[in-house]
Amino acid sequence: MKILGTGSALPDHIVTNDDLSKIVETSDEWITSRTGIRQRRISGGETVSELASKAALAALEQAKVSAEELDLIMVATITPDGIMPNMACMVQDRIGAVNATCFDINAACSGFLFALNTANAYLTSGMYQKILLIGAETLSKLVNWEDRTTCVLFGDGAGAAVVAADEQRYVAVSGSDGAKGQVLTAAQLPLRNFTTEQGDIVTPEQFYMYMNGQEVFKFAVRTVPDSILKIVEKAQVTVDEIDWFLLHQANERIIASVAKRLDIPMEKMPMNMDRYGNTSAASIPLLLDEVLRKGMIKPGNKVILSGFGGGLTWGTVYMEF
Ligand code: ACO
Repeated sequence: MKILGTGSALPDHIVTNDDLSKIVETSDEWITSRTGIRQRRISGGETVSELASKAALAALEQAKVSAEELDLIMVATITPDGIMPNMACMVQDRIGAVNATCFDINAACSGFLFALNTANAYLTSGMYQKILLIGAETLSKLVNWEDRTTCVLFGDGAGAAVVAADEQRYVAVSGSDGAKGQVLTAAQLPLRNFTTEQGDIVTPEQFYMYMNGQEVFKFAVRTVPDSILKIVEKAQVTVDEIDWFLLHQANERIIASVAKRLDIPMEKMPMNMDRYGNTSAASIPLLLDEVLRKGMIKPGNKVILSGFGGGLTWGTVYMEF
């Protein structure tokens, strides 16, 4: 599989740690030292379908692919504008991708990697030839802005990539642990029909993002290094040979811990959570777009991408550029 082009879209509105310290009891020092996040973009009205479409158009322009050439669009998101129609269909309509089949992927911070794996499988089977993948979120609508333990972490944005079949190597490992699903939850829907006693009220606890931060931290610092070791074995390369590690931008301490455990220089692990916070499914494509546009990834480079998050879910990919 080859990435033909990438694109990003971010809301204009910047919210700094100091801004947050005016609405909850927190400080720039606490947030920066625990997470590496200094500011995030928060929707000032931009919807997921708008951000996704903007990122998609930038990716198509760079890929020199027209919207009509696309035969599949996948949007990874946990914060769609609504359940139906899906976000991929809304993007299709906005960009005029009349020949595409469209569906969404719900796998939280691993969503974009699962979309990438799905694209690779479709390309390998020959079923589709030009695929648009998007990770897009407005997490700000699921965040409880009175809860300092979560509201400081998340941001909004979208990243996209256009991919096609190619001889470049692509190797993937992934997994899920539904038994630990309750450590990260959001937006529960009530059962609501004439046979149930249950009302239609969703409590704030069921609606807002809930996170057991320490459990998520332990999961991430165990699973990501393990999956990197598995992928290098599967791809028959060594950790030292990898040029870039693009990890989900949840938290600088998670990334530093992975680097330490596998003896990887931090320079090989680009980060942008200082500017965007944790954007869930958008985080990896936003970072990928940034490093590609800066020319950091050179032809022939070996790159590992790794996503991990709610579900619990994780996915790690080895790609040659
Ligand atoms: N500002 C100031 N104080 C705070 C804040 C805040 N924003 N948030 C929590 N605190 C306080 C707590 O109330 C607690 O106070 P107490 O000791 O008086 O009770 C104290 O800080 C320590 O709280 P902990 O939760 O123990 O803080 P911890 O050191 O674990 O750091 C953090 C919290 C940063 C969330 C950490 O657990 C973490 O990095 N977890 C990973 C989770 C993550 O990144 N999730 C992202 C979403 S999931 C994903 O993308 C994979």
